[in-house]
Amino acid sequence: MNTPDLKKARIRTKEKVKHIDANIVRSNAFNGKKYYIKTYGCQMNEHDSELIKNLLEGIGFLSVDSIEEADLVILNTCAIRENAHDKVFGFLGRCKHEKEKNNPNMIIAVCGCMAQEPSVCEEIQNKHKYIDLVFGTHNMHNLPTYLLNKMDKTDFEVESKEGEVIENLSYTRDSNISAWVNIMYGCDKFCTYCIVPYTRGKQRSRRSEKILEEIKELKKEGYKEITLLGQNVNAYGKDLEDELSFAELLEEAAKTNIDRIRFVTSHPWDFTDEMIDVIAKYDNIMPYIHLPLQSGSDNILKKMGRRYTKEEYLTLFNKLKTKIKGASITTDIIVGFPGETTEDFNETLDVVDKCKYDGAFTFIYSPRIGTPAAVMTNQIDEEEKRNRLHTLNEKINKYSLESNKKYLGKTVKVLINGHSDKGDNMYSGYTDSMKLVNVKSNKDIIGQIVDVKITDAKSFSLDGEL
Ligand code: 5AD
Ligand code: SF4
Repeated sequence: MNTPDLKKARIRTKEKVKHIDANIVRSNAFNGKKYYIKTYGCQMNEHDSELIKNLLEGIGFLSVDSIEEADLVILNTCAIRENAHDKVFGFLGRCKHEKEKNNPNMIIAVCGCMAQEPSVCEEIQNKHKYIDLVFGTHNMHNLPTYLLNKMDKTDFEVESKEGEVIENLSYTRDSNISAWVNIMYGCDKFCTYCIVPYTRGKQRSRRSEKILEEIKELKKEGYKEITLLGQNVNAYGKDLEDELSFAELLEEAAKTNIDRIRFVTSHPWDFTDEMIDVIAKYDNIMPYIHLPLQSGSDNILKKMGRRYTKEEYLTLFNKLKTKIKGASITTDIIVGFPGETTEDFNETLDVVDKCKYDGAFTFIYSPRIGTPAAVMTNQIDEEEKRNRLHTLNEKINKYSLESNKKYLGKTVKVLINGHSDKGDNMYSGYTDSMKLVNVKSNKDIIGQIVDVKITDAKSFSLDGEL
């Protein structure tokens, strides 16, 4: 039994991070048993679920599409905002019902970022005794062992620590066209609103030779696209001696000649001119950058601990737009951070007017227990937050439509990743600039990069013809 501790999770020492080859347990102990996994949150979680699937299949489990068919249900959770918590406990209610009514032997497991929160573990301990297993982000690779050790009461396997880099992992990937590749884990930025540095540990980079090996292997397997993944991808390598910088890693990745390379998420503070030059130089590095702004007010940026000013952000933004041909840029924005005045909010709107983003994820500030912002005075009224979000979204959608309209009549390259739900013979995929395109084709074009002429533009997608 191991439960989380936010005080421990906050600690950052100078100790060298260990890179460990995991000893993954494989067996046929659960042959014929079925699992259902539900994933909440970011791409990191999606990719972690691909690891969990591989671990489960390695001990005999088969995947199913509903909890009614499952012997094991796993919820891979997100802690970034309170509404994620509500969704998870809503879904757990359904699992509990199924277990009590029809399947008393069902194993219910909760993992991921919420498992790293002490308040959540206490809630499970006190009110949700039907949950069998809770495991954290640091020890996912031990899941087979936890399942093989019989549980008679809720087993908590959550560690709060800086963390290691675990190698020797395999993934059951959701796509055979696009693949995630972790390049670093954790975060040391400690933005004052954010729980990630506590749930995911210290910033720790993988060794570049392991990353490049993985990319080459994916290319050999026929993957067309990889996305380099990290909470702060462009801080890659800063925590290691004798390691490539992010710009150098990107360049080496580009030289593998895989068709498309993407990366998320970049922190404006770590964006260097070298990175911009490398992105501009290689055709297989996609001209798409997700560059979280969070706020346009210097006052709020400072309270958030973001380490840049409005002016510095705009300078970087303009540099990216001028140096990278056809660059599309999206962002994350939080409204209603403690103490945000109307003037502060107007500064954010001003940046949106200047940047005319291709798209944005917008959020209402949600206090997270244990983070500095949660105990700041001047928390903003919920209704005011909702009004600000509405105003912001109208602007964001307007610019998103405007940027999409620029594609009308143009022919663009689209990597088709599957059928679209828009009708028979409809397919969808993304442009190099990450615009979603729906297109009709009489033959199967999944996995191909095709030329599409854009015929219609909406706020969130484009329509086109081959
Ligand atoms: N409240 C609201 N939004 C948040 N984000 C992170 N923490 C919070 C929070 N406490 C947003 C940020 C981040 C994105 C992934 O989620 O905008 O970039
Ligand atoms: Fe959270 Fe800031 Fe780290 Fe992003 S950079 S994960 S917002 S602490």
